[in-house]
Amino acid sequence: MKIAVSGKGGVGKTLIAGTLARLFAKDGYNVLAIDNDSAMNLSYTLGIEENIKANIVPISEMKKLIDERTTVAGKGSGIYNINPEVADIPDRFKVTGPDGLQLLVLGTVQKPASGCLCPENAMIKSLVYNLLVKRDEVIIVDFEAGLEHLGRGTAKGIDVMLVITEPSQKSLDLCSKIIKLSKRLGVINVYLVANKVYDDSQLDVIYKTIKSWEVPLYHTIPYDPEIINADLNGKSPIDFNSNSKAITSIKSLYEKLKKLKEELFDI
Ligand SMILES: Nc1ncnc2c1ncn2[C@@H]1O[C@H](COP(=O)(O)OP(=O)(O)O)[C@@H](O)[C@H]1O
Ligand SMILES: [Mg+2]
Repeated sequence: MKIAVSGKGGVGKTLIAGTLARLFAKDGYNVLAIDNDSAMNLSYTLGIEENIKANIVPISEMKKLIDERTTVAGKGSGIYNINPEVADIPDRFKVTGPDGLQLLVLGTVQKPASGCLCPENAMIKSLVYNLLVKRDEVIIVDFEAGLEHLGRGTAKGIDVMLVITEPSQKSLDLCSKIIKLSKRLGVINVYLVANKVYDDSQLDVIYKTIKSWEVPLYHTIPYDPEIINADLNGKSPIDFNSNSKAITSIKSLYEKLKKLKEELFDI
């Protein structure tokens, strides 16, 4: 089962990706969580130990490794391999967290021109493909907002794309774009999730906006001050208060996804 989590910065991607990863791991699944968000803070939500967290280097910053894999023998700079060999990388650089789950921090590549095919991008793109298409764990990807590394081949590997929105038109606008792109690239199960919802009047506006969209509102997660308090105390939200409103709601999202997983793979 490969789950991708996307949406505008700040909407709750990392909270949702990280908490889902913990819930799958608690249930005994082999879980590999992938951090491809530019904020790179999935390790906090997962509750990775301090000393492990401090030593994580994102793959996108491993200059030597990237050079090794993308350099074409006998060619000068400016010519490089856009399909580097990466199959060994996840197991070499992943770290272990609570409940046996594993985390691989890809990082993102900050370049003025998006879509640039610099060696770092080639590396991350190949890795995202490898992870989503070639591995057989429960993989949960905390995606960067622009879905820059989502090519058609990679999209095929995604079983579920959770597109996260908060109650704001800006965030809904980006969701609309992500949904269209995901569908165009061939992702079948694309679901909208509303997070940080205070009350029903906000939901009414969201329903009105998405009336003509091709995807349903799959799940709603309430605004919950306990999530902020977890952040403040430097704790993983699920460890800080596993029965808070938002965590309880993500547990029910997890149950839905588990059911979908059974439908997709076991029957
Ligand atoms: N349901 C929620 N209730 C309250 N605060 C939330 C909720 N979801 C996320 N947050 C807070 O919003 C901020 C952004 O969340 P985060 O998961 O980092 O978003 P993203 O990864 O999309 O940028 C964090 O400070 C987080 O604690
Ligand atoms: Mg994030």
